[in-house]
Amino acid sequence: MDTTKDDDRQKNDAVANNKPPESDNPLVKSVIQDMEDLDKDYMELELDNEHYKKKLEEVKVLQKKCLSGIAHQRYRMKKISEALKAIPNPSSVDRACMDEAHNKMTKRKNTFRDFEDHLPHKNGIYLNIILGQVNISLLNKEDKYLYKQDYERFKLTLSYIQFGLSLILVFANYLIDFTSIRWADSVLHFLLVWYYCTLTIREQILIVNGSRIKGWWLLHHFVSTACSAITLIWPDGYSYQAFRTQYGWFILYIAFVQVLQYYYQKGCLYRLKCLGQRHDMDITVEGFMSWMFKGLAFLLPFLFFAYFFQLYNSIQLYKLYTDPRCTEWQVPVLSVIHLVLFLGNMTTTLKVLKQKFTEDMKNKKKFYKNKYRFNSKPKVM
Ligand code: COA
Repeated sequence: MDTTKDDDRQKNDAVANNKPPESDNPLVKSVIQDMEDLDKDYMELELDNEHYKKKLEEVKVLQKKCLSGIAHQRYRMKKISEALKAIPNPSSVDRACMDEAHNKMTKRKNTFRDFEDHLPHKNGIYLNIILGQVNISLLNKEDKYLYKQDYERFKLTLSYIQFGLSLILVFANYLIDFTSIRWADSVLHFLLVWYYCTLTIREQILIVNGSRIKGWWLLHHFVSTACSAITLIWPDGYSYQAFRTQYGWFILYIAFVQVLQYYYQKGCLYRLKCLGQRHDMDITVEGFMSWMFKGLAFLLPFLFFAYFFQLYNSIQLYKLYTDPRCTEWQVPVLSVIHLVLFLGNMTTTLKVLKQKFTEDMKNKKKFYKNKYRFNSKPKVM
């Protein structure tokens, strides 16, 4: 009874003096001591957090300043270019001065790309619709490299799954009657719809972060999503059964080519990283180019075969469409889609090759060396 009174008195005194009550229990004392130590750490953490928030604000202000600075420079350079073009009958001295200004502007434009690698970018309409206003900018080259690597690995994993599934479906067709289990095909077609859809999102994120994927490959993945979706809803019947095995072989072959593409892209990515990091076991830009051309020479026959397979699909589907037993709208639409894919793939690949053979090596050298330069410590001699 007395102890309780004492405790109460102690507690009241402590409250009156604005101090916490003190306990005589050694266990409680030790815990309180721990808590006091933790409080000190917490106060430090609070200060760090304030400091961090302040820095973030400063970074945001700097980002805005740099972005508007770049926009301003671009605008002024455009006006200067127009003014240069409008100068009538320049003398040889004038021309030399004008050329110098022109070269300066070209160099500066390239430098802006480097600046922009570390600045946030706008998402674009497609990503805004899908993701909303979330910021998906990767602000350093290491993160960009890792994201690209992850994208390639995602494609590889899904290619193996597509390969496995289509292999089962194609060979099972020779063993059992698949007309009763059309749903098994649907699993593969649904997987393809999801895969191509996901690719379009990942590729938009890559583009926002400076990737130079050609517009056709993006469109190709949108068209492939539509192609798989239409195949998914193609009802079972004469025309589906007539085309099913050929399409199974096609998916199998495309999955195989995608695996080859992965090894080509992975090789390029790895060498670009080495070029950027300037390791002792450095490879040169010429070494990179030579590897790239060898890789392309190996890959291209497989790619062209895939494109002609697409053309063959288009022709077969057209033949089916002219058959009186074919009643489904999916057949002519798929025939057109395969033809579009063939034309787009063929022309883009030929354009890429032409571009690679006629590239200005001087500009390219700088570009390749800087692409994944994220560990720019000087080389120890
Ligand atoms: N899908 C996605 N990204 C692609 C791509 C494709 N099909 N082809 C090229 N890219 C990317 C590259 O990785 C590179 O990205 P980066 O700027 O982030 O480094 C960028 O686009 C520029 O590449 P580029 O130099 O133009 O070509 P490349 O040497 O990397 O590849 C080919 C050239 C022809 C091998 C490649 O485009 C290809 O494999 N195309 C065939 C795709 C196809 O038809 N698939 C379906 C049938 S199998």
